Amino acid sequence: MSDQESATEGANEVERTDREHVFGTWSYQKEVDPTQVVDASGVRFTTADGEEYIDLSGQLMCSNLGHSADRVADRVAEQIRDVPFVSPGYTTEARSELGRELAEITPGDLTKTFFSTSGTEAVEAAVKIARFYTGKQKIISRYRSYHGATHGSISVTGDPRRLMAEPGVPGTIKAPDPYAYGSTLDPMESLEYIDEMLTLEGDTVAAVVVEPIVGSNGILVPPDEYLPRLKEIAHDHGALLICDEVMSGFGRTGEWFGCDVFGVTPDIMTMAKGLTGAYQPLGATIVTPEIADHFEEEMFCHGHTYSGHPVAVAAGLAAIETYREENLIERAGEIGAYLGDRLDELDEAHPSVGETRGVGLFRGIELTKRADERVPFGEREDKISPGTTVVDEVAATAGDHGTYVANMINTLILAPPLSITEDDVDEAVEALDAGLDVSDDAMDD
Ligand SMILES: Cc1ncc(COP(=O)(O)O)c(C=O)c1O
Repeated sequence: MSDQESATEGANEVERTDREHVFGTWSYQKEVDPTQVVDASGVRFTTADGEEYIDLSGQLMCSNLGHSADRVADRVAEQIRDVPFVSPGYTTEARSELGRELAEITPGDLTKTFFSTSGTEAVEAAVKIARFYTGKQKIISRYRSYHGATHGSISVTGDPRRLMAEPGVPGTIKAPDPYAYGSTLDPMESLEYIDEMLTLEGDTVAAVVVEPIVGSNGILVPPDEYLPRLKEIAHDHGALLICDEVMSGFGRTGEWFGCDVFGVTPDIMTMAKGLTGAYQPLGATIVTPEIADHFEEEMFCHGHTYSGHPVAVAAGLAAIETYREENLIERAGEIGAYLGDRLDELDEAHPSVGETRGVGLFRGIELTKRADERVPFGEREDKISPGTTVVDEVAATAGDHGTYVANMINTLILAPPLSITEDDVDEAVEALDAGLDVSDDAMDD
């Protein structure tokens, strides 16, 4: 049987047609095997073969509002009928109001926003703004990070997907991560390393860009003092701090933003995903008044046709109202603590669980095939190699038991809709339990 035949075995007409005419992302196309989703409601979705799944990863860690946020759906429909589109030179009530709201909910004095249509574009804008504002070119980011798919944003990305786009954009430098479980450096040592990098680079670095809590590269939570100190270090060297909140924002951590967990206001913050709860594609890059003022006399040399798209910003505004009215941010902290306890039980029960970590409803389960030596099942190069890993099999088995969970390299990534209940968590944990039997069996003797 050919690769294409085996990938389409059991597929329906929609899935077969899709496979033939649509690229699967970040994949060897011979392995792409899309499943048709026909219904979604609350924290669950249903596939064409009638199977229902708990969405334990909020699709790509973005469906923070679950799959039936009527307020957002209604506002989108209204806006499409009223004013479906105007060029960015015009404005709408939704755009100005969302700009004002973002200034309100983001920390400190962050005040002025550039709107785009994705996390990638939000980061792309942040990097350009930092370069324009400082007049410097270099950007320091970390190895275990993902910041986007375009040439600029993949160049500041540290994960292995960057390697295929190299040499990438000049002046993008990588630093070590605060990763106590898997790195040779202690988290605070990794920070002093960044300090030394900034010294050795001289006065040439425009910004340091980090995810306050690393998302797809393993849910890495730094020590409390890490982010405040990183800001100090960056500023001591005349560099800006950019916090990429594309995944960690909008309630995921039990706070509006990941940097709120550490009481830090960055100079530039990027957002997307939960900004609309995934009901519309929308990215945002917000800056301090000093940076905003710079562009009164200097050109803001950046833009897109769909910057501030009326329907997308209307979705963003309705999403923020929903987070507030349904008290979802606080709820994420509470139910997240319950999820954390349940994951600790899995850690106790399964020798192949190396570590569970996270904050709120943003959690990871890192696997190991030799616990005492922290040997991973999934290696970084697996991310860009064909074939499946034991970690993929764990996730697939959880799927067979009715729970969808994303994974990357060696960690299961949990980021469910913030409306998930304790009963849903219990059901999902049962499915993870079954999945982790697979990794237990695959451990080295
Ligand atoms: C932290 C972070 N930044 C940027 C991006 C890119 O966002 P998008 O896929 O919307 O372009 C992602 C996507 O996962 C992300 O997690």
